[in-house]
Amino acid sequence: MIWRQRPLRTVHLLALALCVSAGGDFDWTKQEKTSFYYGTFPTGFSWGVGSSAYQTEGAWNTDGKGMSIWDVFAHKKGKISSNETGDSSCEGYYKFKDDINLMKEMKLNHYRFSISWPRILPSGSKSKNKREHINEKGIRYYNDLINMLLDNKITPVVTLYHWDLPQVLQEKHGGWQNASMVSYFNDFASLCFERFGNRVKHWITFNNPWSIAVEGYETGEHAPGLKLRGSGAYKAAHHIIKAHAKVWHTYDTKWRSKQKGLIGISLTADWGEPVDVSNQRDIEAAERYIHFYLGWFASPLFHGDYPQVMKEYIGRKSGQQGLGASRLPVFSPQEKSYIRGTVDFLGLGHYTTRYVTQKNYPSGFGDSYFADRDLAELVDPQWPDPGSEWLYSVPWGFRRLLNFVKTQYGNPMMYVTENGVSEKRLCTDLCDDWRMQYLREYINEMLKAVKDGVNVKGYTAWSLLDSFEWDEGFSERFGLYFVDFSNKNKPRYPKASVQFYKRIISSNGFPNQREVESWKRKAVETCSSSNQLLAAGQSGDAEGCVWFVADPLIGHMEMVTEIVVPTVCTLCILLSAVFFMFLLRRRL
Ligand SMILES: *[C@@H]1O[C@H](CO)[C@@H](O)[C@H](O)[C@H]1NC(C)=O
Ligand SMILES: *[C@@H]1O[C@H](CO)[C@@H](O)[C@H](O)[C@H]1NC(C)=O
Repeated sequence: MIWRQRPLRTVHLLALALCVSAGGDFDWTKQEKTSFYYGTFPTGFSWGVGSSAYQTEGAWNTDGKGMSIWDVFAHKKGKISSNETGDSSCEGYYKFKDDINLMKEMKLNHYRFSISWPRILPSGSKSKNKREHINEKGIRYYNDLINMLLDNKITPVVTLYHWDLPQVLQEKHGGWQNASMVSYFNDFASLCFERFGNRVKHWITFNNPWSIAVEGYETGEHAPGLKLRGSGAYKAAHHIIKAHAKVWHTYDTKWRSKQKGLIGISLTADWGEPVDVSNQRDIEAAERYIHFYLGWFASPLFHGDYPQVMKEYIGRKSGQQGLGASRLPVFSPQEKSYIRGTVDFLGLGHYTTRYVTQKNYPSGFGDSYFADRDLAELVDPQWPDPGSEWLYSVPWGFRRLLNFVKTQYGNPMMYVTENGVSEKRLCTDLCDDWRMQYLREYINEMLKAVKDGVNVKGYTAWSLLDSFEWDEGFSERFGLYFVDFSNKNKPRYPKASVQFYKRIISSNGFPNQREVESWKRKAVETCSSSNQLLAAGQSGDAEGCVWFVADPLIGHMEMVTEIVVPTVCTLCILLSAVFFMFLLRRRL
């Protein structure tokens, strides 16, 4: 794109001088978009795939499991695409042995899954009350899963909270709006350490708390579906951060010396790139975007408090709205020191990138997390957009995000806990070129980040199987394996990317051009026969190959003009300047 190419050097220098003041050591003007890098990861780099309980297990009311907020939410009509539910999903509860065989075949080092809280504590807690009991059948399921993973030399990486809060806690207390969740979550986590901690050494407290807070309590697109705009998300996040810290301390004081494991959290964030890196306001807007996304959680955990820019913006806007206090809650000094430093490793989920520019929201706009940020998100229509509407493939953003974490939070030990791409067709072609392309480029940018000195220890492709994609139901498929949901047995079929990922794993990276170029060809050789199998296996009423007609261009037209018009203007000005200088020089 033209406006991203190097303009006049003076503009560059100016931008450089300006951004020195823009927080951290991250250099916004350094845009290395280098060609493909052939090389390998450090020895011991861990390769895995991920999943979560509600998305894959099914068995929603089996063997004494209690209800979660997602069971209840999905059963309400109109919340999920095509009114689908995760009631049976991939039937992972029954098929985990088959799935571990798939992982073994791929030679994975780790498997990331989550424990369903209401499956082991049906009413959310475990007091003496007879109705509040531990569901031993649920415990047995996770024991079997963990044991079989270990038998196959696959390290379990366990998420404690992947969004499925026991419904009882939502109804009785208002879920994450209520500070009492901190001790309920601590009890649940303690039970997990007690029962599984002799074998599980990698714990993730929360998966993507941004999504829990914003989509659960601000927009209501996710369970519990509350629309408490401008305050609900901040309050939920506040309690989640405290709950994380409490569980880290519990592990640290009671279990670590015996079990010798690590406790982290998995934060998900897009990268935000300034529309114009020579514009200080754009740089600040991009930085704000990342602080409201990642920093909201990372900053308390690494530095003890919310990002300064969040405190400023939300505080000022709350004042303009005539509120006595900021809508962003405040940590006491004791809480700050209690929370700071409670991550043994940082899990990072990442999928996509946005361009960001400054945009003021008038105070009459109303309370909203989104308006609090004073920015607009833009996309380049040329970015590949193979799957979910929000997911554009922008590999270089991944390297920039990883480097941002390095400079901002003191280069913590990191595991990439989620990265992948979906397809938006009901009927899948198992020859998933776009996924191979995405994995190849994103993993390569991660490799460049490792060469930059970023401390990444492992990578988790999202996801092993196609599964219940939250409010999108089964319409978006992130799996390396295709699951035929129309068939009662939920058979799994490998997409070409299984072979492709397997080769990255066995080479621990990208050894040389000749070899890497042959991978795709070889992977595609296997998928056409799988395609035939799938066609033969699909039940009579299978959907047929329906392509969703997406509207990437129309939907983003407004955003595009927002980018293009200023760009054209900037270009015109630059060109005139060059022309003018040219004239001047000829005169001399
Ligand atoms: C979902 O359920 C609602 C209420 O019963 C109904 O109006 C709607 O048509 C359903 N949607 C689909 C796609 O079946
Ligand atoms: C939190 O839950 C308790 C019951 O445990 C309830 O009395 C209290 O009102 C709740 N607080 C909020 C803010 O909802």
